[in-house]
Amino acid sequence: MTQFRSSRSEMSLGLFLLGAGHHIAAWRLPEAPPNAAVSFPHYQAIAAEAEAAKFDAIFFADSASVRDFGISPIDRDERSIRLEPLTLLSALAVSTDRIGLIATASTTYNEPYNLARRFASLDLLSGGRAGWNLVTSANAQDGPNFSLEAHPEHGVRYDRAHEFEEVVRGLWHSWEGEDAFPLDKTGGQIFRPEALHPLNHKGAHFAVRGPLSVPPSAQGHPVIIQAGASEAGRDTAARTAEVVFAAHQSFDEAFAFYQDVKRRLAAYGRAPEDLKILPGVSPFIGRTRAEAQASFDELQDLVTPEVGLKLLQPFAGGLDLRDYDLDGPLPDLPVTTNAIGRQKLLVDLARRENLTIRQLYLHIAGARGHWQLIGTASEIAGELEHYFKNGAADGFNIMPPALQRSLGPITELLLPELRRRGLFRKDYTGTTLREHLGLRRPDLPAFPQFAA
Ligand SMILES: Cc1cc2nc3c(=O)[nH]c(=O)nc-3n(C[C@H](O)[C@H](O)[C@H](O)COP(=O)(O)O)c2cc1C
Repeated sequence: MTQFRSSRSEMSLGLFLLGAGHHIAAWRLPEAPPNAAVSFPHYQAIAAEAEAAKFDAIFFADSASVRDFGISPIDRDERSIRLEPLTLLSALAVSTDRIGLIATASTTYNEPYNLARRFASLDLLSGGRAGWNLVTSANAQDGPNFSLEAHPEHGVRYDRAHEFEEVVRGLWHSWEGEDAFPLDKTGGQIFRPEALHPLNHKGAHFAVRGPLSVPPSAQGHPVIIQAGASEAGRDTAARTAEVVFAAHQSFDEAFAFYQDVKRRLAAYGRAPEDLKILPGVSPFIGRTRAEAQASFDELQDLVTPEVGLKLLQPFAGGLDLRDYDLDGPLPDLPVTTNAIGRQKLLVDLARRENLTIRQLYLHIAGARGHWQLIGTASEIAGELEHYFKNGAADGFNIMPPALQRSLGPITELLLPELRRRGLFRKDYTGTTLREHLGLRRPDLPAFPQFAA
């Protein structure tokens, strides 16, 4: 059987930004701005650093509700407050000029015309640097904010997502022909009317006439990203996504996922290089392993039992873990209706490794089930190289544990080590997100760009 591996010699690296960092206690470090989750100067400084380091893109996750509202105490979790990502990226589009700008947006809680228009606008404004992380929404608390009593069930969400994506893509293809935009002042014509087509979509979920009022950007249209790992999620990825964000704990898992998703592409007439797979990784880097471990331990010591239990509560199936001894074993949990896979993963882990409740929450405090590495730059670069060269990744979505502390070692120790191994760019060679990622440009006319 064919074994897939990256077709490029250099990896793609995204920087996944979340408030003060991915570690749940990052905002409590002395150097972290306590308002990082909603601070523009904070994100502006980080985006500038990421661009100077030549990352492919910065990425923001999203959900449209206060996280875990009504499930567990929320006042000690930085993730309870956040900015809407497209708005934030529109501001960052002005303060950066090369780095890609990826925002998450839900197909369950949006209308396709609105979303197609917003992303196309960001794409045009930023000179072709936008990406859309298509999610069906993992967070069940979003439903009641959108006139729904409950979060629609998994199959229904993916069915809607399928049609939603077709409509968005169709709207992005509203324009065609090389000479679509004469912008001819003398003749008085902005675009050729033959170049603009309505969509006239009528489906189970949406009826959208089109066309879209925003012309294509320098990269054609925004890059489509997907982050679901279920059967339906993988299929959506193979059918439509150009990048997949994944969460794995081991090489074997990452390899199996990579091979499976790449193999599915052929059924949709797509080539392996049409889709880039980027697992998440949260690195704690030190000049020595002991220094990396000390930095990790300092963050772990800031996780209070209230916050730790909050992390576990969504997977507890309704059981209040506050009633149990933190240093005792995890009790048997009633099955959740949500996050079934994640609950099983945690229970299996606790049983296999004989973890107490405290040990279990500390285990997920750093990267929420993503791959976590603690070591020197050379050790971590070696791990990434192994994944990249052996069919488990086309690059990585780097999740800094604590931005003020972790970004320096990432850009000053890890990236130079990857460059030394010939695995990461020294400078940008293109201007668009598609060019950074090595993705094909869709056949669309670019609206002429003018220097300011
Ligand atoms: C790196 C990464 C980022 C994600 N970001 C979001 C997000 O911002 N919002 C969201 O609702 N789900 C997010 N997800 C979750 C997935 O999109 C998806 O909803 C979840 O994996 C459940 O879908 P599945 O059943 O297909 O796996 C993310 C997943 C990964 C791996």
